Amino acid sequence: MVKKISACIFISGKGSNLISLIKSSRDYNFPIKIDLVISNNIDAYGLKYAKKHNIPCIYYSSVNLSRFERNCLMELKKRKIKFLCLAGFMKLLSKNFIKNFKYKIINIHPSLLPKFKGLNTHKRVLKNKEKYTGCTVHYVNPKLDAGDIILKKKILINKYDNENSLKKRVLKQEHILYSRAIRSVFK
Ligand code: GRF
Repeated sequence: MVKKISACIFISGKGSNLISLIKSSRDYNFPIKIDLVISNNIDAYGLKYAKKHNIPCIYYSSVNLSRFERNCLMELKKRKIKFLCLAGFMKLLSKNFIKNFKYKIINIHPSLLPKFKGLNTHKRVLKNKEKYTGCTVHYVNPKLDAGDIILKKKILINKYDNENSLKKRVLKQEHILYSRAIRSVFK
């Protein structure tokens, strides 16, 4: 049995990536153990799911980002958490916060980075008439979606795709890619 690294997942919304990570983490040789979920949205579905699965959950408002980060840092230190995964977490963390977890924070983004950083990815991909899209797992640095890339998955866009279908198809790949990337980080 591997000694699992204690991890926290940050979410803001539905949390489908969180759910897939919770499922993967049940595997005895998955490298991380999810010991905490933090959300800046009290209504995030992911919080309900995690609670149901007995994972400690905390909501902190991020209206004041430095207070949010201070609260998180205190809790993460208290719980001796060593690795952070952002999964649909919609805030940009500050340089000050990130320096506490150098190369220990990763994120998933629904495009083939470095293309299409930021929001409304699928809409922009379609508008640009791209042939391919996909998703990327990367380390987090203070710039938006700009840290070193860990893994990408590419998919072909078909002529019937719209924003919604692309979102669904990419999300399905995200659920596979995120766990693969975590395994590769700790290999
Ligand atoms: C995902 O597409 C993720 O890449 C992006 O936001 C979406 C969140 O989905 N950052 P979920 O909350 O994990 O379902």
